[in-house]
Amino acid sequence: MKKILLSGVKPTGTAHIGNYFGAMKQMVDLQNSGNYQCFLFLADYHALNLIQNRDEMKKLTLELALDYLAIGLDPKKSILFKQSDISAHTELAWIFDTIVTVPYLERAHAFKDAEAKNKEINVGTFNYPVLMAADILLYDTDVVPVGQDQKQHIEYARDIALKFNHTFGPKNVEEYKDLIFKLPDSLILDTVAVVPGTDGRKMSKSYNNIIPLFATREEITKAVMSIVTDAGIGAIGTDGKVSDGKPINLYNIHKLFKAKDKLDQLYEMNKGKYKSLKDDLIEDIDAFVKPMRERREKLAKDPKKVIKILEKGAKQAKKIADKKLLEVKKAVGVL
Ligand code: TYM
Repeated sequence: MKKILLSGVKPTGTAHIGNYFGAMKQMVDLQNSGNYQCFLFLADYHALNLIQNRDEMKKLTLELALDYLAIGLDPKKSILFKQSDISAHTELAWIFDTIVTVPYLERAHAFKDAEAKNKEINVGTFNYPVLMAADILLYDTDVVPVGQDQKQHIEYARDIALKFNHTFGPKNVEEYKDLIFKLPDSLILDTVAVVPGTDGRKMSKSYNNIIPLFATREEITKAVMSIVTDAGIGAIGTDGKVSDGKPINLYNIHKLFKAKDKLDQLYEMNKGKYKSLKDDLIEDIDAFVKPMRERREKLAKDPKKVIKILEKGAKQAKKIADKKLLEVKKAVGVL
């Protein structure tokens, strides 16, 4: 039996190299390893917390599907679908709502961040981890490849699985751990757990510090030129080591695209020459992105094909999700 691998991404805007190295690439690499049954879904119901415009939602969802197909997600090997096509996700989230407490959800980082910004927080944002737990647990997922920012959410999914199994699993069984829901593990690669943005903070659409994944040469140039280049003597890099005077932020982005020995040589030879280093990074990103950009342009000409892929994926996912939901409904006693 192959292990089950599942991940989700919100269609909330332009995919960036943080998404790519942090999560998207792992998905394709693991798909190609042949060791997993892979599921990837477009988390449109999660995105609805932010994208509340019909046309935009449709456009961003299709674009995200294109992004994944362009980087090599193969619908013959992986099940690609839209979250909203599988009603079991929201139905299971409701069932979980009845066993999850308010103080527990108040401890979620994403909720605390939203609260700190003093926003009027909608219930969907508050409930976000519960829907995410349903996404993961419906498919008996073993592994969830994500970036560091999602780690807590996977822990929530594990906690919710345990609580459900404990509450509704057969009482005469000592080991209730994997009875109804399997406990998933996150898969976070240390080297790309937090990909920095052009200002050194985590790359994020909301910080306006992204390098778009499918950027044109001009867009790459613009983004790279905006990378902050403080020399950072004594500064701590994302690898936790003290910098030796390198423009640490530029270096940390550059190391995603160049082997370490070549990179170190380049930075040694170009000490203080930020323009040359940036020109080199522009070349590297452009060379890296170009084939994917071209593949995406081709795919974008046939949106009907993409919609068909999503429909087929939904059919496959629905079979599995509905079966699990049936088991859950029996366990709670509504069936
Ligand atoms: P989302 O759409 O915000 O991000 C998609 C993936 O990209 C990763 N990521 C990063 N990794 C490293 N460095 C960065 N700067 C960076 N920025 C983003 C994220 O960690 C994520 O893996 N809640 C999820 C979507 C989701 C989901 C799920 C994921 C819904 N249900 C079930 C897994 C399983 C999210 O908002 O991802």
